[in-house]
Amino acid sequence: WSSTALKVDGVLEVGGVRLTDLVAEHGSPAYVLDEADFRGRAQAFRAAFADYDVYYAGKAFLCTTVARWVVEEGLFLDVCSGGELAVAERAGVPAERIGFHGNNKSLAELTRAVELGVGRIIVDSFHEIERLAAVTRELGRTARVLIRVTAGVEAHTHEYIATAHEDQKFGFSISSGDALEAARQISAIEGLELLGLHSHIGSQIFDSSGFEVAARRVLALHAQISDEVGVVMPEMDLGGGFGIAYTTQDDPSDPSQLAIELTKIVTEECKARDLAVPRLSIEPGRAIVGPAMCTVYSVGTVKAVELDGGAVRTYVSVDGGMSDNIRTALYDADYSATLASRSSDAPALLSRVVGMHCEAGDIVVKDEFLPGDLVPGDLVAVPGTGAYCRSMASNYNHALRPPVVVVKDGASRVAVRRETVDDLLRLDVDASSQMGD
Ligand code: LLP
Repeated sequence: WSSTALKVDGVLEVGGVRLTDLVAEHGSPAYVLDEADFRGRAQAFRAAFADYDVYYAGKAFLCTTVARWVVEEGLFLDVCSGGELAVAERAGVPAERIGFHGNNKSLAELTRAVELGVGRIIVDSFHEIERLAAVTRELGRTARVLIRVTAGVEAHTHEYIATAHEDQKFGFSISSGDALEAARQISAIEGLELLGLHSHIGSQIFDSSGFEVAARRVLALHAQISDEVGVVMPEMDLGGGFGIAYTTQDDPSDPSQLAIELTKIVTEECKARDLAVPRLSIEPGRAIVGPAMCTVYSVGTVKAVELDGGAVRTYVSVDGGMSDNIRTALYDADYSATLASRSSDAPALLSRVVGMHCEAGDIVVKDEFLPGDLVPGDLVAVPGTGAYCRSMASNYNHALRPPVVVVKDGASRVAVRRETVDDLLRLDVDASSQMGD
């Protein structure tokens, strides 16, 4: 739960706003974004990584309001598409505070990024180096680039496996020599300024040793580029991926300890090699916005289903589902849920919170003990839905994507409005009537 969430007489309040009142005003389902919590986590990252630049990873969740908070809190912004870049631009994020990611940025996206003068473009392939070089030539501008490298560290959800995972689409492999070759090519192109290396080992990482292994490998390449290409790069980015607790079973490691460790590794290795210490940066997304949001749903139907062996599972259907949170279906992710609109003394029953979509895998919360007297109209809230829920939401079954409602000091404001049927129909052009035009 976000830091201001508390229950008063069974009613969940976030940011001083009762969710019963919030739903009365804004409807359900709704994402509830706790502004104080978001800002607090952004500040905590800045404090823990005081000598780093902290880039908020917009892919976790981005809207104009959040982009403004990011700037106000002194963070930088990582975008990974022309769409995210457009939000950053609209929010007035200074271009030099933007990092632009992506393994297949289009010519149009690269052109826009160079025109705006974004602070760094993280290049991911030889084709992109060519494409970006052409853009800078055409525009007569210089682009500052980082090379995305594959450190050979595989980050699973709760673990990492060293030396694995070359076999994926991102980055230049260190071990094959591609990353070194990329540095050679970039340093020979007039319009490109080689700023540094970038490594992102995965997401929802609990064990910080993966970051440390990656940092050592990236540093070794950093030193090799200095020796063999003759460029001492001023920056190094160690990516995002800091895990959060989705349920009480989860116990992520403390990123502030990691900050100290990584600084130590980089400083010591650079000293040993007589190299200037590069400016470090990180890119947390989930760890800032994940806990800052919850989703509130209305219960529509409740059904007891007998399982093999005689046990009973209560299926609680809510007015959202996999269209507003695909993570359970896609990653088998764990979430929790609570009755948010009243207190109940009824014995808790093993329950599954499911959505209203046309498939059995449409599960929001796999297993939760919820009061046995749930009825239609009750509100159920699911915490930890800030990251990769609204940003991965879909219109499956022509569902209308829920709004993002910001709560703070007892007041609520809409940051992303609820989709309407008109929004859906606006894109739906009747081609049948155009045939033969
Ligand atoms: N930097 C880069 C280059 C990334 O690719 C990512 C995430 C991040 C930073 C931020 O990672 P975070 O701190 O949020 O873990 N949809 C998945 C997560 C995909 C993450 C993709 N890249 C999920 O819902 O778990």
